[in-house]
Amino acid sequence: MAKARALSKRPGHHLIAVVLSAAVLLPLLMPAATAAAAVAVAEGDGENKSALGGTRQWATGKDEEQLVAEREAGGGGSVEEDEFAGGFGSLDSMLQWAIGNSDPEKLKEEASGVQKLSADELQKRRQEIKELMEKLKMPSDADLMKIAIADLNNSSISLEDRQRALQELLVLVEAIDNANDLDKLGGLLPLIQELSNANEEIRITSAWVLGTASQNNALVQDQILGYGALARLVKMGYSTSTEEAAKALYAISALIRNSVNGQEMFHSENGGAMLQHILVNNDSDLRLQKKAVFLATDLADFQLNSGNPGLPLLSDRLFLKSVVDMLSRFDLDLQEKVLLAIKSLLKLSSVDVANFELYDLESVLHRLGVQLEDLPSEDQKEYAGEVDALRREVLTLFQQKLKQGRQQQHNI
Ligand SMILES: *[C@@H]1O[C@H](CO)[C@@H](O)[C@H](O)[C@H]1NC(C)=O
Ligand SMILES: *[C@@H]1O[C@H](CO)[C@@H](O)[C@H](O)[C@H]1NC(C)=O
Ligand SMILES: *[C@@H]1O[C@H](CO)[C@@H](O)[C@H](O)[C@H]1NC(C)=O
Ligand SMILES: *[C@@H]1O[C@H](CO)[C@@H](O)[C@H](O)[C@H]1NC(C)=O
Repeated sequence: MAKARALSKRPGHHLIAVVLSAAVLLPLLMPAATAAAAVAVAEGDGENKSALGGTRQWATGKDEEQLVAEREAGGGGSVEEDEFAGGFGSLDSMLQWAIGNSDPEKLKEEASGVQKLSADELQKRRQEIKELMEKLKMPSDADLMKIAIADLNNSSISLEDRQRALQELLVLVEAIDNANDLDKLGGLLPLIQELSNANEEIRITSAWVLGTASQNNALVQDQILGYGALARLVKMGYSTSTEEAAKALYAISALIRNSVNGQEMFHSENGGAMLQHILVNNDSDLRLQKKAVFLATDLADFQLNSGNPGLPLLSDRLFLKSVVDMLSRFDLDLQEKVLLAIKSLLKLSSVDVANFELYDLESVLHRLGVQLEDLPSEDQKEYAGEVDALRREVLTLFQQKLKQGRQQQHNI
């Protein structure tokens, strides 16, 4: 899939290479006995190219129908025929094209050269060529990545080609092996450099590729973090373009997810301030705010599950206030995500539940309950019911935590 998509965008590079090789190698592939037949065919070239018929016609002297009949009868053709079917069957059409377009004089010359080889030499030669053809059949993902990376690294390439190279990498790095190869092939530095491109589209796609490559991949996460890409991505998070900020958040989430090192760097790059900026900014796109809330929840959950000291952001008073405030934005999906965030935050020992009390979480949750009962249209009723169940769960948890807090204070 990846190959096909990437290939279809640049048919020129590879097809020509394969066809040219086929044209040069073709005469060597033929058994000596049939070389003469090929010469005869070559001599006829120019008069009727389609008279070449299938490759098998000249390779075995049998016609297509006869061969098909034999194969269906289970007997198979000659040994040569099996070899051809196994090794080169899918190249038939390219081979035909190559014959039709090659120089008849040269073909004749090379075909007579083949006749001089002994049977053993010929066999060996054919094996070598067979292996070569296998390799030529389809460029590897690494080949495709090298081409895209060379394009990215070429400062004189057009913006359009640059974008296309990025799109190709985006598809290729979905495969973990390819993502792992990215740095080896010299791809990470050019990609990170593109985060500073003057063109927004280019910046966005680069962030996308970096995010996709580091998704659930500790090795690539560390490589990208090591090159210092996080600082640039945090800056992108402040972009007034929702698309750009959203893609930066995507890349940051992928880079620091389950990574202690990544989360420390996020803190030292002041990533919390960027998240906060998105959360409190009333002009922020809802989708962007949802991503920011989701990232905060993910960080809180990591802290809960790993026992690692969490990000100071998560216990920051203003951050908690902006999370509570978001429950007043009427969007069920956002409210659900915010409730999940609060639920995780309440469980963190580093979060002082008194701050939630300060921002009147209890009244906010009660108001939300009324809203959820009154407002939803028929088709949102079920969803509103689910969000309301979550709201009650959060309320109960909050009341428990408050009680615990008071008891602890009392005991001191
Ligand atoms: C070329 O050969 C094919 C197959 O033998 C035949 O059908 C076709 O009429 C020929 N064309 C010309 C131009 O001779
Ligand atoms: C860089 O791109 C230009 C324009 O496409 C091309 O002419 C040149 O050969 C490329 N340079 C390298 C080193 O690939
Ligand atoms: C990118 O180009 C620089 C010089 O322009 C070169 O040193 C480097 O090896 C190139 N990297 C790749 C991956 O082609
Ligand atoms: C943003 O919205 C909140 C709640 O709707 C409101 O309290 C706050 O004043 C607004 N902030 C700005 C800067 O408009």
